[in-house]
Amino acid sequence: MPALFEQTNINGPALSNRFVRSATWEGLAAPDGSVTEPLLDAMSALARGRVGLIISGHAFVSPEGRAGQWQLAVHEDGMVPGLRRMAEVVHEAGGKIALQIAHAGIRGAAGPDGFPAVGPSELETESGVMGRAMSEAEMAAVIASFAAAAGRAKDAGFDAVQIHAAHGYLLSQFLSPFFNKRTDGYGGDLPGRVRLAREVVQAVRATVGPQYPVFIKINSEDFVPGGMTVDNMLETVPILEAAGLDAVELSGGTFLSKPEERSMRAPRDPQVPSLPYYESAAERLRLRTGLPIVLVGGIRTYETSERLVSQGIADYVALCRPLICEPDLIRRWESGDTKASTCRSDNRCFVRALKGRGLECVHKG
Ligand SMILES: Cc1cc2nc3c(=O)[nH]c(=O)nc-3n(C[C@H](O)[C@H](O)[C@H](O)COP(=O)(O)O)c2cc1C
Repeated sequence: MPALFEQTNINGPALSNRFVRSATWEGLAAPDGSVTEPLLDAMSALARGRVGLIISGHAFVSPEGRAGQWQLAVHEDGMVPGLRRMAEVVHEAGGKIALQIAHAGIRGAAGPDGFPAVGPSELETESGVMGRAMSEAEMAAVIASFAAAAGRAKDAGFDAVQIHAAHGYLLSQFLSPFFNKRTDGYGGDLPGRVRLAREVVQAVRATVGPQYPVFIKINSEDFVPGGMTVDNMLETVPILEAAGLDAVELSGGTFLSKPEERSMRAPRDPQVPSLPYYESAAERLRLRTGLPIVLVGGIRTYETSERLVSQGIADYVALCRPLICEPDLIRRWESGDTKASTCRSDNRCFVRALKGRGLECVHKG
């Protein structure tokens, strides 16, 4: 039976347990996206806290794909020295780290640089039309940017890369019939919608070579009317697996989903204990793929983590907000103090970070 604290590996270096810090924007990068001392301290704290694999906050692969302020950057070679330091501090503390590489697509409109937002199609919202459809040349440039970013992550000493294809960011927009209204080879039917993500995976794999872990984070479903469904996801993952992936992290929701259906759900009633958000989708995915499954969303207890792994529902348990509250939660659990995370999941940490004060639990102390 797989155990939470056994050593494993996914086409790369050994991971000391099955706990993953899910990608988390910390709001701690410099205005140009480079690594800062506070960000290094945060990474080191997670590694000392015994997280098996830390996934960085989303790092933008090209300027127009930037989502917001104080976001990590990997769009140019000048970012590599800082990223190298980031990998080093984690390794010095005995941890492992993956870089999440991302393009915000239409959501890039929120970025500070004034680039026009681009995505699969223009998007009609209640407040008007957002963004415009990408040309073939722009899609080719995006593929090249993801590949170059993965190459930089590897050069910088990161142990893996994770392609962000969830939460209504660019690749998730292409996968989603809600966002993707294209009639060319990058839209229409499901293989068309998957094509950009598939070509990104192939280009990343070609850049990093066969012996380097390439992961993806994908929505189990979008939770928007006419969006990607669990059935769509179940057809999508095997296509991406064949393109060269090593593991899949299952998430859900987009920036247009209802707050209680977004990736970072805020519970209506904080007294009701949270359950894993996408467990049934993971159970169905297990029957469709041989890839290791990383499950994120709403996991708050040691018992749930153990159950998910021992029952084979997930191979890895990913946490985001509990590790904002307690960066050393995994060390605590490993030491035998298996009390649940104290995270209230109210996202006030996020609101604080949006003001430029960095990510920190507001309920501490
Ligand atoms: C402050 C904050 C920042 C986040 N940043 C990212 C990110 O950069 N990339 C990503 O894929 N998901 C991001 N997420 C979503 C989380 O990785 C995770 O999917 C979600 O919070 C559900 O997990 P949890 O219930 O353990 O918090 C973020 C969530 C929060 C609260």
